[in-house]
Amino acid sequence: MEITYRNLRPEDYDSLIQVWKASGLPVRLTGRDSREKITEHMKEQPDFFTGAFDRGRLIGAVIATSDLRKGWINRLAVIPEYQGRGVASELLKISEKCLINSGVEIISCLIMDDNHHSIKFFESRHYSNSPDVLYFRKVLRRDT
Ligand SMILES: CC(C)(COP(=O)(O)OP(=O)(O)OC[C@H]1O[C@@H](n2cnc3c(N)ncnc32)[C@H](O)[C@@H]1OP(=O)(O)O)[C@@H](O)C(=O)NCCC(=O)NCCS
Repeated sequence: MEITYRNLRPEDYDSLIQVWKASGLPVRLTGRDSREKITEHMKEQPDFFTGAFDRGRLIGAVIATSDLRKGWINRLAVIPEYQGRGVASELLKISEKCLINSGVEIISCLIMDDNHHSIKFFESRHYSNSPDVLYFRKVLRRDT
C-alpha cells in the first residue's frame, strides 16, 4: 500500500464528508462545513486542505487555518482501517509546514476532553494542554 498526499480540491468534498463520518467526527453540512464554504476556503488557501489517498481513495484529511497570530489544526481524521499506520502523523507534518511557511509560531488544536486517543496523539507530537485556559466562544449562527 502506498499512501499519497495532496491538496484537497472542491471535487473531493463528498469524500471528505465520508472520511469525517467514518472516523466518527461530528458532521454538519451547514455553515462552515457546507460545500459552499469549504469550496470557498479551498480556493483562498489551497495548501491548507490536505488529503491522504490510497490509489485515489481519500482515507484521511486535515484542514489547517491561520488567524495570523496562531495556526490551527482542524478536523484531523483517518478512516479506521487505515489508523495506526502513520497517516495522521504525516498529515499533521504537512499542515505544520504550511502553517510555519505562512508565518505563525504557535500551532493549536481543540480536542474534546473525552477523545483520549487524540489527546495522546497530540501529546506525543509535542502539543501540550493549557490546564488554566478555558475555551470560550460566541456562536453567531446556530447551524455552524
Ligand atoms: C487521531 C487520529 C487522526 C490518528 O490517526 P492515525 O492515522 O491512526 O495516527 P498515526 O498512525 O499517525 O499515529 C497513531 C499511532 O500509530 C503509530 N504508528 C505510526 N505508524 C505506524 C505503523 N506503520 N504501524 C503501526 N503503528 C504506527 C504511531 O506511533 C502513533 O502512536 P503514538 O501516538 O503513540 O506515537 C485518528 O485516530 C482519528 O481519525 N480519530 C478520529 C477523529 C478524531 O478524533 N480526530 C481528532 C480531532 S482533534
